[in-house]
Amino acid sequence: MDNPSTLLPSDNFWVPFTSNRDFNEDPRIFVSAEGVYFKTPEGKSILDGCSGLYTTPAGHGRREIANAVYKQLVELDFSSSFQRSHPKAFEASTKIAKLLPQGLDKIFFVNSGSEAVDTAMKLCLAYHRAQGQSSRSLFVSRERAYHGVGFGGVALSGMVNNRRAFGLNLPAAVHMRHTHIAENRFTIGEGEHGADLADDLLRLIQNYGAENVAGVIVEPIAGSTGTLVPPKGYLKRLRKICDEHNLLLIFDEVITGFGRTGKAFAAQSFDVTPDMILMAKAITNGAQPMAAVAVKQTIFDIMMETTPDNSIEFFHGYTWSAHPAACAACIATLDIYENERLFERAAQTSAYFLESLFSLKGNPNITDIRGYGMMGGIDVLPMGNPGKAGHKLQKKLFDNGLHLKTTGDAAVIAPAFVMEKTQIDQMIETLDRTLRAM
Ligand SMILES: Cc1ncc(COP(=O)(O)O)c(C=O)c1O
Repeated sequence: MDNPSTLLPSDNFWVPFTSNRDFNEDPRIFVSAEGVYFKTPEGKSILDGCSGLYTTPAGHGRREIANAVYKQLVELDFSSSFQRSHPKAFEASTKIAKLLPQGLDKIFFVNSGSEAVDTAMKLCLAYHRAQGQSSRSLFVSRERAYHGVGFGGVALSGMVNNRRAFGLNLPAAVHMRHTHIAENRFTIGEGEHGADLADDLLRLIQNYGAENVAGVIVEPIAGSTGTLVPPKGYLKRLRKICDEHNLLLIFDEVITGFGRTGKAFAAQSFDVTPDMILMAKAITNGAQPMAAVAVKQTIFDIMMETTPDNSIEFFHGYTWSAHPAACAACIATLDIYENERLFERAAQTSAYFLESLFSLKGNPNITDIRGYGMMGGIDVLPMGNPGKAGHKLQKKLFDNGLHLKTTGDAAVIAPAFVMEKTQIDQMIETLDRTLRAM
């Protein structure tokens, strides 16, 4: 048998969202993690500047979660999620509902952000049909959005590379303009300019007819394309337009959920209550695959009332929906968030984090910095083809001991809420040094 340490990753493993040929020549591998550090096979420590992939705000290696998962697997390793359930599913959903804005009381469990997006889209369509409005089939999303990789999410996403290889046989979606505008460059928090970009929704309604629109989906802060913070008043304006035209508003909080903005959900930070909230990633501190769609009670009620007795009200679900081990991980995670007051800690640490991040202004290879809560974004001066500078930065940062995600020529920074000030200093210093040497 081959010695595993000499195998190259893509001898058999196809690395997702990665240039596999490049990766094979220069693999970047983690073998363990503790707190805010990963370890490479050579024993080198790499500071985690991205909470894994926005997944792990309580830090890596949390024994409470590992133990809860182990205990659950020994007690009840699996229970069908169709026509059966188990107590941890009820407990996890009640705990999540307590964190959500009032009215978003029903929790539908799935296993990934992409599944949450598909689930919300199907629910939106089914909800309108339940009320006899079957013409409502068009979705409105936004340029530069990322809503995962299911067919639904690809249609909604505003990132052409995620779409161009797959043709146009995707659900119907049109895109509002993004909010990444020059007037707000180097602004901490919400920009003063651009609330009127929400009126783009009106333009699309006028173009397609409100009676044909099923729902509007946005990330409150667009995460993957570099932390695009909404302009002041923008989200409230979207909510108002949706109300005036009877459109469901969906917040994709796969990244912003669970304290990233300093409150449990960005809906609360921006004081806008959507009709559905999608969550994933930090729901188990990254320890188990899990995601969920939180739905307004009123939507659930319509689905119940319009279905004959003893019939299934929503023909949808996954084998792993509400998996017992994922529910156990979720409960243990939410206990950590509560006991360690991690959302408050995120709100407090945010000021220091953002001030440090914005101290990078003046670095000649940075063209913009954005940030809110414990999320930051940096635009890197392009070097030839789009994405080349970002790719180079991501590799050089790894060599210099920092894990960050880049998309195109933007870098996203999302530290764990447990990160100490000295570690934030280390992260910013590494970023500055690496960018200057590009
Ligand atoms: C806003 C948003 N929605 C959906 C997804 C898809 O989640 P997953 O990768 O778990 O399918 C992501 C992933 O980063 C995301 O950022």
